[in-house]
Amino acid sequence: MKPETVTIEDKTFKIMIDAETIQARIVEIGIQINQQYEGKKPVLLGILNGCFLFMADLVKQIDVACEIAFMKVSSYHGGMESKRVVTEDYDLKMDIGNRHIIIIEDIVDTGHTMRFIVDKLKARNPVSVSICTLLHKPTAMEYQIEEINYIAFEIENKFVVGYGLDYKGFGRNFNAIYQVVQ
Ligand code: IMP
Repeated sequence: MKPETVTIEDKTFKIMIDAETIQARIVEIGIQINQQYEGKKPVLLGILNGCFLFMADLVKQIDVACEIAFMKVSSYHGGMESKRVVTEDYDLKMDIGNRHIIIIEDIVDTGHTMRFIVDKLKARNPVSVSICTLLHKPTAMEYQIEEINYIAFEIENKFVVGYGLDYKGFGRNFNAIYQVVQ
């Protein structure tokens, strides 16, 4: 099923990136990661909840030895405005000293959440920290984050749902990405 528009509560969203385009881009990113992490045994660190579909599809394209781990933080609390306060719901339990970390994130919007996570991880002395994000809104960025090495899609500064991203808790299960209709 491929609806052109979807409605969640009071908002309508129109298709922006279809499922086939997402999957094709993930194959390309998988190839890059396989080339750049050969022999490095990276830890793929998913940031819940938004990463879950992107991470599941991406790891199927990774064929270097790697470990999978998760952290859970919340910053939007279900609406369309960032609260600029990052709540830590579940911390990474693994010792990451001497490891290469690839953070898997759904979206880097203002960058506030990623700045918080990267600083927290770097204090634990990993060899490297790199960010792989499904979406990036460059014009919304408020922080300098050099660690963003893999971006599946750069998008304009409009609210999106689907493929892991939610509006008021709904829409994460859509296999495509939809943009709000103003
Ligand atoms: P930040 O502004 O970069 O800190 O983004 C914080 C978090 O807000 C992201 O990890 C997402 O979970 C969420 N977020 C940001 N933009 C959107 C959007 O357009 N749709 C759904 N969630 C979003």
